[in-house]
Amino acid sequence: MPKPRILVIDDEAPIRDSLKMTLEYEGYDVIGAATGQEGLALAEREAPDLVLLDVKMPGMDGIEVLERLRNMNDSLPVVVVSGHGTISTAVEATKKGAFDFIEKPFASERVLVSLRNALDSRQLRDENRSLKKAVEIRHQMIGESAGLKHVMAAVGRAAPTNATVLITGESGVGKELVARTIHRNSLRSRERFVQVNCAAIPEELIESELFGHEKGSFTGATEKQVGKFEQADRGTIFLDEVGDMSAKTQAKVLRVLQEGEVERLGSARTVKVDVRVIAATNKNLEEEIEKGHFREDLYFRLAVIPIHVPPLRERPDDIAPLVRHYMDYFSRENNVRPKRIAPASLDALTRYRWRGNIRELRNTVERMIIMTGGDTIDLADLPETVRSPAAWPAAAGAGAGAPKQANDSEAAKAGTLREFKENAERMFLVGKLRENGWNISKTAEVIGTPRSNLYKKLEQYQISQETDG
Ligand SMILES: Nc1ncnc2c1ncn2[C@@H]1O[C@H](COP(=O)(O)OP(=O)(O)OP(=O)(O)O)[C@@H](O)[C@H]1O
Ligand SMILES: [Mg+2]
Repeated sequence: MPKPRILVIDDEAPIRDSLKMTLEYEGYDVIGAATGQEGLALAEREAPDLVLLDVKMPGMDGIEVLERLRNMNDSLPVVVVSGHGTISTAVEATKKGAFDFIEKPFASERVLVSLRNALDSRQLRDENRSLKKAVEIRHQMIGESAGLKHVMAAVGRAAPTNATVLITGESGVGKELVARTIHRNSLRSRERFVQVNCAAIPEELIESELFGHEKGSFTGATEKQVGKFEQADRGTIFLDEVGDMSAKTQAKVLRVLQEGEVERLGSARTVKVDVRVIAATNKNLEEEIEKGHFREDLYFRLAVIPIHVPPLRERPDDIAPLVRHYMDYFSRENNVRPKRIAPASLDALTRYRWRGNIRELRNTVERMIIMTGGDTIDLADLPETVRSPAAWPAAAGAGAGAPKQANDSEAAKAGTLREFKENAERMFLVGKLRENGWNISKTAEVIGTPRSNLYKKLEQYQISQETDG
């Protein structure tokens, strides 16, 4: 870490000098200014980490300097020093945002402690800020498609209300992200967001999980447990995979929604809860109702605001921005230099049929960032499944709304040129390998490519000496 830089603004040279000596001895970098004007200029030019400021100075006094410093950079801590330490100057300085107030004459220990505190709290605040930023980036909803804009508009309308929201969509489309975004933008954002995955909890435990139980209420209930609904009081509960709840649990959840109260297992007492419910499912609940698997009355209670998140194949416009976003994100996360993506690679990623939606895309980009040695992500760096034309949607489904015919011929054209190139490359490689007795290092040297790249190609084309009949 570089030395923290302290700016001392004081009109008395002996004080500046003695502070300079003490602070430099403690490992700080010190710059001095004899007037407020000079101090402000230095604060701007030298980017100090902290300012030690005298109050009584000819010309511009310390309080005014303090005000101007705050306007200039409100995260720069200022410790005010005054020989005319009346309570009122101290109060005024603190009101105007001074971190601390020290009276002259001061012991150097007192100054050092104050500096350390101020610098620590500044560092904490900076760290806090970058953590917050990281969280924001992680929870950003990326995309420009009409489909996603539609979702975001619904999120915006739902967020400030207390209405129950039902989010539907295939696996990996971003249902949980939508639920969290609603909570973060709601009046409950400072309270808890409690998530329950109804599909992951065994049938016999889900009720005690949701509603809690008293000690001894059933075999194995050795301790009392507060249920998720109570935990989420004043906040939001996210009932994920709500389509997987049993009939009995559905009835109880319906009751909470209607009465706003829960009853712990083994207790006759009811507890009032103020909980906003957001539910999600990848099942088609209307069909589940038809089949008699889901209660219609519960469905209507949940779907006050229905939000459907479309699959990625219906919003191909989101793929490129998502790829870029995750390339950035994972480069930073893994401390690797940012990479470029070759247009052909982006093209292949855009054509690929993302059955696992955004989750699959995200994992693919993460792997690409980690596995690609060079600065550019080329076609060869993509997973085989993404590269192979077989994985592309044959017809409708991809370019939303594009006529079937156009889509077909487009894919076929790209496939042909590619096949031609790949066949040629494969033949060339097999020929050279034969010439060099299947010695990989030698072949790589002869054809002027790194060994690692040759290995990648062998894998890509499934070439091995055995297959070379
Ligand atoms: N629009 C988006 N922008 C950026 N990241 C997204 C977006 N949508 C989803 N993601 C990310 O994709 C991943 C999957 O999203 P999420 O878990 O919300 O999906 P889901 O619909 O709940 O999936 P499942 O049905 O499998 O539970 C998460 O890492 C999420 O942050
Ligand atoms: Mg989910």
